[in-house]
Amino acid sequence: MAVLQQTAIADIPFNRPFASGKEYTYIQQAIENGHVSGDGPFTRKCQQKLEQMLGVPKVLLTTSCTDALEMAALLVDIQPGDEVIVPSFTFVSTVNAFVLRGARPVFIDIRPDTLNLDESQLERLISQRTRAIVPVHYAGVGCEMEEILGIADRFEIPVVEDNAHGLFGRYRGRSLGTLGCLATLSFHETKNISCGEGGALLIRDPRYLERAEILREKGTNRSRFFRGQVDKYTWVDVGSSFLPSDILAAFLYAQLESWEQIQCARERIWKHYFVHLADWADRLGVRLPHIPAHCEQSYHMFYMLMPSPAQRDALIRHLKERGVLSVFHYMPLHLSDMGRICAAREVACPVTEQVSERLIRLPFYNQLTGDDQARIIDAIREFRG
Ligand SMILES: Cc1ncc(COP(=O)(O)O)c(C=O)c1O
Repeated sequence: MAVLQQTAIADIPFNRPFASGKEYTYIQQAIENGHVSGDGPFTRKCQQKLEQMLGVPKVLLTTSCTDALEMAALLVDIQPGDEVIVPSFTFVSTVNAFVLRGARPVFIDIRPDTLNLDESQLERLISQRTRAIVPVHYAGVGCEMEEILGIADRFEIPVVEDNAHGLFGRYRGRSLGTLGCLATLSFHETKNISCGEGGALLIRDPRYLERAEILREKGTNRSRFFRGQVDKYTWVDVGSSFLPSDILAAFLYAQLESWEQIQCARERIWKHYFVHLADWADRLGVRLPHIPAHCEQSYHMFYMLMPSPAQRDALIRHLKERGVLSVFHYMPLHLSDMGRICAAREVACPVTEQVSERLIRLPFYNQLTGDDQARIIDAIREFRG
């Protein structure tokens, strides 16, 4: 009697951590270097590579984008009661970093096309107490920085770009993360370039440089000591331990060296979704991502906006039943418990609310195979609404 063998088809995860291969060699080298704490040879290499790739005067690696945002809040000298304008449609760290310093967020709604901060609403949200504007380049597509920087300049308010998604993205030919006075990057497992948990602070304005080094080194002038600029180091300011181990930097350096292959793979995956879902999306009234002509995106994620919240939830279930894991993104922060407590005032964010209920993110990772992507696309195309 023939035995019927059934091979289980593995689920397709939403994300899968990626290793380019050299991570192991570099981690071994970091151990052999005898310097596995922060600011070792691999940290310096990563920082220099990012400075040179992005054309930003100074990069400091941090343990996360969250930490880089916390450093930014300290650097722009947020004081209790200050106001910070942030999109409600973002990750909690964008806001929390400033709230930790006593800031009151002023939530701003997003544009329906790019899902980025709606710059047309910015000016009316500025008050005497506004101390920072924090645009988030959602999905690595640039915010309308010309308008945002123009308004910020006029009111002399620092702009901190939360560029967690946007490494390698460009706005009018300029790298995202090099437009505000400060910017942050994330190297979390889900990002294009990763070391598990990691981040960076990008410093365009030299005014912030010396203090940034001190904040990152527990409030000491240890960096100056290591450069031989002082003969002992001491406690000179507030700070924390924001610097990652050189082992993490070794992992990260391997990924940074492979950035072209990584970006190439991600571009291919993104375009494949876009092309093969276009007619299905058209039929069902699903909106695919919009990339303005003056923006080069970072190929960080692929999202779709379903016609209704019920259809979004049904599609997540439909895909799960077929072994494909998709997710929603960002619960509006202005409606969260903490957002309601700490917001400076109530601002309506209707686009954020609609988008949050209708958005679905598809599996997206560097090593997603053609076969798996075909399976995902077939499963989506079977969905009739
Ligand atoms: C827009 C945004 N900012 C900040 C973060 C926090 O990044 P990290 O996990 O590196 O702290 C995230 C996380 O994904 C994010 O999406």
